[in-house]
Amino acid sequence: MLCGRTNVNKFLIEEQRRNPSLVGDFSMLMSDIVRSCKAIAQGVSRGSLADLLGDAGSENVQGEGQKKLDVLANQAFLRHCEWGGHLAAMASEEMEDIFPIPSENPRGRYLLVFDPLDGSSNIDVNLSVGSIFSVLRCPENCSGGAPTAVDFLQPGAQQVAAGYALYGPSTMLVLSVGNGTHGFTLDRNIGEFLLTHPNLVIAPETREFAINASNERFWEPPVQRYVSECLAGQSGVRGKDFNMRWVASMVAEVHRILMRGGVFMYPRDSKDLSRPGRLRLMYEANPMAMIVAQAGGLASTGSQRILDVQPTSLHERVPVILGSRDEVERIERYHREHE
Ligand code: AHG
Ligand code: MN
Ligand code: MN
Repeated sequence: MLCGRTNVNKFLIEEQRRNPSLVGDFSMLMSDIVRSCKAIAQGVSRGSLADLLGDAGSENVQGEGQKKLDVLANQAFLRHCEWGGHLAAMASEEMEDIFPIPSENPRGRYLLVFDPLDGSSNIDVNLSVGSIFSVLRCPENCSGGAPTAVDFLQPGAQQVAAGYALYGPSTMLVLSVGNGTHGFTLDRNIGEFLLTHPNLVIAPETREFAINASNERFWEPPVQRYVSECLAGQSGVRGKDFNMRWVASMVAEVHRILMRGGVFMYPRDSKDLSRPGRLRLMYEANPMAMIVAQAGGLASTGSQRILDVQPTSLHERVPVILGSRDEVERIERYHREHE
């Protein structure tokens, strides 16, 4: 009874033993990431009590206003992960350039990419937010010389691990190290994430979709077709009624899809022609694509599997359509038919 559930550290050590390609200090790196998420969970839950809400008064590289908690969550990842000797460099939504591990610390063989606080427009209204992370291997020679941004530009299929923390009614950690997707819940009494949702599976069929419908006039035609067919309900070509949700926090949307199926879309749109979508490939789309694929779902741009996209820059954006396999395949088909 006293030690009934597996905690995340035991889970990770066992995964590392099982998989010889997870070399060296992989499980220790993951423990540092887990500690970052616990620290952020603490800050998020203190909110106004610790004067942590509101704007930081600064902008990130993408011209987005930063919240105080965006900046603090970024610092939490850097401070918890910079000294362990497991990483060569980090990169984040909130930093224009990569963060090489300072020379006073040993450099390791992994790279960490993260969105320190996802859905941060929800912070000030006390709704769910999260953190997203992706672990890559440092290419040969990376830890010898100084790592550069080019070392990070690996397709998502090469991720060693990916996951997110959801700071919701309970704090959860969902991760994959390439052997399924597993969920852990933070037990605040003992300060540990305990395995509560092993081997998550996304139902292939669904009656629920998520999209920011205020952008409808800007969507690409295959997505307009898909959503209009969902909205037509039982009397339309789909022959069933659909439900719609939009939390404006990708972590929360992906979590809902892992729990009960569904499809999430932030498609290519014509709202801002300087970008092919809103979400960022390296620290939003890729880790979520791995989590979803490892749970039997699919993640696509509409015309290509996200995990196969070759990144060309650290902060590049990409259209994202992910979730229940049958729906994502249908939307991919609508793209092919529209070509
Ligand atoms: P972030 O807070 O890290 O910038 O990400 C927010 C993202 C994502 O979580 C969410 O799905 C989407 O932006 C919300 O977009 P809208 O503002 O169009 O609703
Ligand atoms: Mn985000
Ligand atoms: Mn963010």
